[in-house]
Amino acid sequence: MATVPVVLVLHVLLGAAAAACAVAVDAAAAAAGSSKVAAAGSSKVPAIYVFGDSTADVGNNNYLPGGGVPRANFPHNGVDFPTSRPTGRFSNGYNGVDFLAVNMGFKRSPPPFLAVANKTNKQVFRGLLGVNFASAGSGILDTTGSSIIPLSKQVEQFAAVQRNISSRVGTGAAGTLLSRSLFLVSTGGNDLFAFFSRKNSTPSDADKRRFVANLVALYQNHVKALYVLGARKFAVIDVPPIGCCPYPRSLHPLGACIDVLNELARGFNRGVKDAMHGLSLSFQGLRYSVGSSHAVVQSIMKHPQRLGFKDVTTACCGSGRFNGESGCTPNATLCDNRHQYLFWDLLHPTHATSKIAAAAIYNGSLHFAAPINFRQLVEDDRY
Ligand SMILES: *[C@@H]1O[C@H](CO)[C@@H](O)[C@H](O)[C@H]1NC(C)=O
Ligand SMILES: *[C@@H]1O[C@H](CO)[C@@H](O)[C@H](O)[C@H]1NC(C)=O
Ligand SMILES: *[C@@H]1O[C@H](CO)[C@@H](O)[C@H](O)[C@H]1NC(C)=O
Ligand SMILES: *[C@@H]1O[C@H](CO)[C@@H](O)[C@H](O)[C@H]1NC(C)=O
Repeated sequence: MATVPVVLVLHVLLGAAAAACAVAVDAAAAAAGSSKVAAAGSSKVPAIYVFGDSTADVGNNNYLPGGGVPRANFPHNGVDFPTSRPTGRFSNGYNGVDFLAVNMGFKRSPPPFLAVANKTNKQVFRGLLGVNFASAGSGILDTTGSSIIPLSKQVEQFAAVQRNISSRVGTGAAGTLLSRSLFLVSTGGNDLFAFFSRKNSTPSDADKRRFVANLVALYQNHVKALYVLGARKFAVIDVPPIGCCPYPRSLHPLGACIDVLNELARGFNRGVKDAMHGLSLSFQGLRYSVGSSHAVVQSIMKHPQRLGFKDVTTACCGSGRFNGESGCTPNATLCDNRHQYLFWDLLHPTHATSKIAAAAIYNGSLHFAAPINFRQLVEDDRY
């Protein structure tokens, strides 16, 4: 990704540039987009290890057996990916993790763990550059989702990779490598959806507080487990206003956002910020940034035109009300102007949205990433 568009996009996001400029930037960004390949060796961290749900999955679920697995390895997904290839990403092109990786000098996200596991040499080699463990439909709780890889299992898979790296390069070198690498986690939304469904949409305030507190405590445990395995730099993505996705809107009689879901997201995000701050005080060398997809999506919804969006309520690909009643399948309706949509499918952002989100989280103000942005986290070379 070229530097200039990123900076301009940030100015636009912060309301500092004219609308005409935003449209031009977005078009230029879309054109440069996915085909840009970073020069080898220019990456800012040795490796990225990715954990989480469909916001981060780049194809792990393709390898899981069974009919109940949440998948996106068919059209129209991937229509704007290089060679129009569906990869398992819930996007028309890249997802947010891909663009964050681009900002760090990689071509895109590291490969899915299940694509490289069992390929001994390749696996170890790839492990040195990073692996993506994310699985669509998963959550922080082991009980969230079925036919998926829960976060606890993703951490175990990383532990196996870590052992392999240590046996290949030695414990000391592995420790150094991992302490400089970025651990990117994007999860939580599915746990909130599951809670909402289970409670038949009307949980009490006490229920909500208890659930969110427990969820955050478990999140903290997963982060601690990664720390024990050698992780030091944590880049955490928060949960967007999920009540405004096309799917929840399709459930609302008036087509409005579902407030309970947004409230849960806000509570969870506050909890995660506090939890990460607490961990950074207790665990020597732990550094972090919380990137706010919540703030980015809110900015886009508030001023769509400034960033070149025309539709911030309907999915580009889907069916029914708001195109939000079913997922993006080969027979679903597909919009023409994909870069003008905030949402790709019933729950996920477009390539265009993800690009803007990554730019804001990587190099934006405290509003989009705190207490430092991802760039500052990546460039912190204390170790
Ligand atoms: C890897 O090998 C193990 C043991 O042979 C097998 O159980 C597992 O399914 C394989 N995993 C993948 C992703 O191929
Ligand atoms: C670790 O390495 C062993 C042998 O080199 C290989 O069989 C195994 O698949 C690898 N596992 C992981 C998770 O990388
Ligand atoms: C698309 O096809 C699938 C399977 O054939 C079907 O279940 C689904 O309802 C169809 N969706 C639309 C939008 O027609
Ligand atoms: C990050 O943003 C600052 C100003 O906000 C700008 O000067 C700098 O060039 C940007 N860096 C990158 C890598 O985009």
